[in-house]
Amino acid sequence: TVSHLVPMLSLDNTYNADDLTDWDRKCRELAGSEEVEYCVEPKYDGASISLIYDNGSLARGATRGDGVMGEEVTANIRQIKAIPLSAGLMAQGVIQVEIRGEIVIHKKVFEAYNAKRIAEGLSPLANPRNAASGTLRILDPMEVKKRGLNAILYQISDYTLATGAERPKELATHYGSLQWLYNLGFPTPAREMKVFKHIDDVIAYCHTFEEQRDSLPFEVDGLVIKVNDFAMQDRLGMTSHHPRWAVAYKFKARQATSKLRRVEFQVGRVGAITPVAKIDPVHIGGVTVTSVSLFNEDVVREKDLRIGDTVLVERAGDVIPYIVKPLTELRNGEEEEI
Ligand code: IVH
Repeated sequence: TVSHLVPMLSLDNTYNADDLTDWDRKCRELAGSEEVEYCVEPKYDGASISLIYDNGSLARGATRGDGVMGEEVTANIRQIKAIPLSAGLMAQGVIQVEIRGEIVIHKKVFEAYNAKRIAEGLSPLANPRNAASGTLRILDPMEVKKRGLNAILYQISDYTLATGAERPKELATHYGSLQWLYNLGFPTPAREMKVFKHIDDVIAYCHTFEEQRDSLPFEVDGLVIKVNDFAMQDRLGMTSHHPRWAVAYKFKARQATSKLRRVEFQVGRVGAITPVAKIDPVHIGGVTVTSVSLFNEDVVREKDLRIGDTVLVERAGDVIPYIVKPLTELRNGEEEEI
């Protein structure tokens, strides 16, 4: 267990244009006469991490934990190709920096990994987020290497300059700092992040981005809007839980409920039997779902599914739909075991 240099806070959520307009009004009130500029970037759905570079070398990687203390996972972080082991930070006058980001899995890598698990008779992992956070904690770094994790870094939370060094001019804004990291070889959302002066433009970008979420290689569950200027971020400060200078815009959930009517057992080429749930047709994220793979018998048992159950179904992007859980509180006793 290690402590973070700066606590890792969580973000307040917004769900629509009105929420964002309210948040913008509060920011501008606190900013007084100064013009507010926002930087918008994807909200990656993975496992949060904190990285510390000392004298240009990766010194420590840690999970979020409770936000104050995390788990040290440096050996595993070193196996993630996207994360540089060293970078030209010293030449910039920076002797220590703490960088925050998200460990993610490419959707294609996740699907291939699950296909392999199913072929081996194991139950598939529910989503790329679980796969990322689970992998960070495994004890064999060579296994981590095989899993093909990726990373996106989205925040400099702390830095120390060498005595007499001048602060790099890019470190005045959030956008500038991510650009600076990108130029030093760090994976940042350089292509996706955008700066806007008006909340209406932020909202328009949120809507456009939501329509394109499936075309991204990683699972994204929303966008994060941050006040761009660091000095202004400091002035806005935080509440007990969230920074006032940033907010998440959450995409519409791609979950819906339906009724589990029956289960068909499909026999594969080599004789493996796959149970497939037949559910009442339900629209999720623009697609009608009627059939959901249950992968294998263990999945059916683990989830305690029964015929007649009301089930929560999720479709996350290209990832095939799956049953999250039965809503056991809605049972009436007539449900039948599979
Ligand atoms: S900024 C103080 N930016 O979302 C602000 N967070 O509740 C710190 N996340 O657990 C977070 N993408 O791991 C930020 N572009 C992004 C993000 C991001 C994903 C996660 C983060 C945190 C949660 C916020």
